Amino acid sequence: MNKPVVLVAEELSEAGLAVLGADFEVRHTDGADRSQLLPALAGVDALIVRSATKVDAEAIAAAPKLRVVARAGVGLDNVDVEAATKAGVMVVNAPTSNITSAAEQTIALILGSARNTAQAHAALKNGEWKRSKYTGVELDEKIVGIVGFGKIGQLVAQRLLPFGVEILAYDPYLPPARAAQLGVKLVGFDELLKKSDFITLHPPKTKETVGLIGDKELHEVKPSVRIINVARGGIIDEAALYAAIKEGRVAGAGLDVYAKEPCTDSPLFELDQVVATPHLGASTHEAQEKAGTQVARSVKLALAGEFVPDA
Ligand code: MLT
Repeated sequence: MNKPVVLVAEELSEAGLAVLGADFEVRHTDGADRSQLLPALAGVDALIVRSATKVDAEAIAAAPKLRVVARAGVGLDNVDVEAATKAGVMVVNAPTSNITSAAEQTIALILGSARNTAQAHAALKNGEWKRSKYTGVELDEKIVGIVGFGKIGQLVAQRLLPFGVEILAYDPYLPPARAAQLGVKLVGFDELLKKSDFITLHPPKTKETVGLIGDKELHEVKPSVRIINVARGGIIDEAALYAAIKEGRVAGAGLDVYAKEPCTDSPLFELDQVVATPHLGASTHEAQEKAGTQVARSVKLALAGEFVPDA
């Protein structure tokens, strides 16, 4: 009998592949390349992706045998869940696999942005010893605004509080009592923009959050603010951020995600005030192992017609 086919369209950890084991025919493709992805979908029963593969209505239509799409990570913004559901395709993810890694990457970019670590490192390796140029700021006694206070936002807050910061959180879905329990003050979006010395973004990417930080918002912030985005590209309007930094209305930014990825030639990269990484929030051995094994287990259960519990 033919084995069910699992198409792995992005890198999956060895541990995840081991969970799939010998029960499936595992095929690989480059999901970011549509000309490879669409024909590769023809005979597959399950599709495993990270964030670079667009699983839209066209991709789902190209996979008539598809029974499950598994996202080895948190966000589902690259999967058209409605189109999948209409086609009878189950969508699963690994919602907690990389939240610690994403929170730690956020802390790295906050500190890196505060202390110009990457810029000073690049200059020194280029033979330049520039101490005053790279004078930074302390976190102690600063106000950090966290936009989106879900699992990752909360882990960021826990890790930041020992630095002596005050935390303001904006999240339309969080009860104030829960915020107080976590030692943060729940505020309106405008108050957060006006008061924060650092703003870090952690909402999902939805119609409501695309362009959440745009030109108007960047005219309301303190000129000393540093803005960090380890969530999703597009939540900050990149052109507006570029103008705000150029005009001295924003002191700096730490960016891990971009409106269009891969992104290698953004005007933002020309600015010394910007520290940038290539979507590394979930890129740790630990997170990839968890994401890979969780989605592989879900795919096995789904293809066996069994109940798939929340990971
Ligand atoms: C996620 O949403 O979990 C991450 O962006 C996954 C990834 O790094 O591909």
